[in-house]
Amino acid sequence: MISAVHLSHAFGGHKALQAVSFRVHKGEFAFLTGRSGAGKTTLLRILHGQLPLQAGKARIAGYDLASLRRGRLPLLRRDVAVVFQDFKILPDRTVAENVRLPLEVCGLPDGQIARRVDSVLAVLELERAANLPCAVLSGGEQQRVAIARAMVAGPKVILADEPTGNLDRDMALRLMDVFKQFHAHGVTILMATHNHDIVAATPQARVLNLEAGFLGQAGGACPAGGAA
Ligand SMILES: Nc1ncnc2c1ncn2[C@@H]1O[C@H](COP(=O)(O)OP(=O)(O)OP(=O)(O)O)[C@@H](O)[C@H]1O
Ligand SMILES: [Mg+2]
Repeated sequence: MISAVHLSHAFGGHKALQAVSFRVHKGEFAFLTGRSGAGKTTLLRILHGQLPLQAGKARIAGYDLASLRRGRLPLLRRDVAVVFQDFKILPDRTVAENVRLPLEVCGLPDGQIARRVDSVLAVLELERAANLPCAVLSGGEQQRVAIARAMVAGPKVILADEPTGNLDRDMALRLMDVFKQFHAHGVTILMATHNHDIVAATPQARVLNLEAGFLGQAGGACPAGGAA
């Protein structure tokens, strides 16, 4: 579902990623760990088409990033959802309005949008907040809105960058349960994290460790939905 071969990326003269190669199979859950500045966010941004592919090869959800035209990026982003650290929700819009955005972009009929939004808000225990502006929510609730928005279109892959970053331990573990549920339904997940508790509490996941732009040792694969 995701593959990188000798992927390198530099910002000016600074080498953020150096010949990184790995695969994440369909239905697999993988963590991307490594110290601050190791290149985790850079790698996720390349895989989501936010940064250009400078050197090496990368494929995600059937898209070849080397030959992908900009006009096809919206298609890739229907299959590949992201949850970033600074979750980028719109504070003056309601929870339901934020979550329905990706479906409006797809042009789904209103009734179908409402049903999908209701069901994803229920999974994330956000029904009560559906009509509140996001600005009044707690940090953990806002993070769940970002996840609801990522999930609502039914992506094949989720790229998550420190999604539990600003949460207390209990909330972080509850949020991980949500990711685990999506994983159990066959969604492939690549999640950057510093949080050892989270990694330890997710034995079904494999760990890819980045060190100063190089990929170190990787643990054993454990796909839930069969190999790609
Ligand atoms: N737009 C940019 N311009 C210049 N340097 C950048 C840019 N983005 C990232 N870098 C540098 O590339 C390196 C990798 O950054 P990246 O954000 O990928 O690290 P990270 O592993 O996600 O760190 P953290 O755990 O702190 O989020 C860092 O040294 C960073 O300063
Ligand atoms: Mg980062």
